[in-house]
Amino acid sequence: MSTDITRLISAAGGHPADLATAIDEVGPARCTEIAADEIAYRLDPPRLDPDTRIEVQLRLSHRDTTTDHLVGITDAGATHTQARSANPHATIHQDLGELLRQLLGPREAASAASRQVELRDAGNIESFRRPPAFFAATQRLLATLDHRDRPTLTELASRHESDKWGIHHYTQHYPRYFEPLRDRPLTVLEIGIGGFDNPTAGGASLRMWKHYFPRATIHGVDVHDKTPHAQQRIHILRADQSDPKALEEVVARTGPLDIVIDDGSHQNAHVLTTFHTLFPHVRDGGYYAIEDLQTSYWPRFGGTSEDLNSPHTSLGFLKTLVDGLNHEEVLASSPRDRAPTDRSVRSLHFHHNLAVLEKGVNLEGGGPDWVRYGPK
Ligand SMILES: C[S@@+](CC[C@H](N)C(=O)[O-])C[C@H]1O[C@@H](n2cnc3c(N)ncnc32)[C@H](O)[C@@H]1O
Repeated sequence: MSTDITRLISAAGGHPADLATAIDEVGPARCTEIAADEIAYRLDPPRLDPDTRIEVQLRLSHRDTTTDHLVGITDAGATHTQARSANPHATIHQDLGELLRQLLGPREAASAASRQVELRDAGNIESFRRPPAFFAATQRLLATLDHRDRPTLTELASRHESDKWGIHHYTQHYPRYFEPLRDRPLTVLEIGIGGFDNPTAGGASLRMWKHYFPRATIHGVDVHDKTPHAQQRIHILRADQSDPKALEEVVARTGPLDIVIDDGSHQNAHVLTTFHTLFPHVRDGGYYAIEDLQTSYWPRFGGTSEDLNSPHTSLGFLKTLVDGLNHEEVLASSPRDRAPTDRSVRSLHFHHNLAVLEKGVNLEGGGPDWVRYGPK
């Protein structure tokens, strides 16, 4: 799925000349709007009086044009408009390409060498006595730009009110897998947007993932209409996860996937159908997570507490993948059938109610015949 922002994310990871060409194609005004939207989204404002609104003017240059965008910061968060304020609290002058690379490029490529910051009243004696609130607000905005403001996944779960921390405790586990991928231009798909048939309810985790992965495109899939949750870098798709054809149509839109999180119906049969359909579309090096595996034990969700190895339950099936990990060691005389996942599940990680599977080539080679069968 290609959009203006995915074009810029891709170019921001490459040569400055490619980024300059991408800015020409997308248009400097649109690029500035995209940048302001990311800044306003990621910014964590300082504590402000409820009636205080701080205006930070962005003045971004590209070749011989300068585009203006105004970021408004209040206690509740930040917004942005394409406008030029007569008397902003702060003005940030910067090269547009450089600022886009800070926001959308790899972290190590970020620089702010062209930046100049003007603060209103910086020479005023009152500012020396007591720094005004907009100093701190501007600093927060710059921290957002400089990636210094890099919250943990659990902090973001709280900020965006995701139940992946608090009700559940998944965000303390995910970073050990996802942190190394954090700066990559990923395609992330979560099944289950939340809020069920209320179109405006839910979406908390999509917003958390968007914040955590600053270069990713996030796709949310739900059986109900959830289009109100669409925003920059969040795409909403409608599909029933029990229907493989509908899921294939989803992948036709998203392209190959880097991370899948199944937090949908939690019906065991649906979990298995979704896994068998989507796992082949996960890229090598990607992850497939299944949440709320407690439902594997509960008949209401098609699970059972009687037969813990039933291959029809989520956990019963996942246990079979452990033997798949060691498929090269299973003797030829075994009645076990080969599974397509044998060669493509590289590791399996189990946490309380959560499984995270790593996709990749699982062909390290088996033990030699003289060890497994003994000397001839
Ligand atoms: C637990 S909520 C998801 C919460 C969300 N992942 C979050 O962390 O913010 C479950 C969602 O799955 C959706 N759902 C239920 N059955 C589904 C199905 N068969 N296919 C797709 N989505 C389904 C529901 O509509 C509901 O919005």
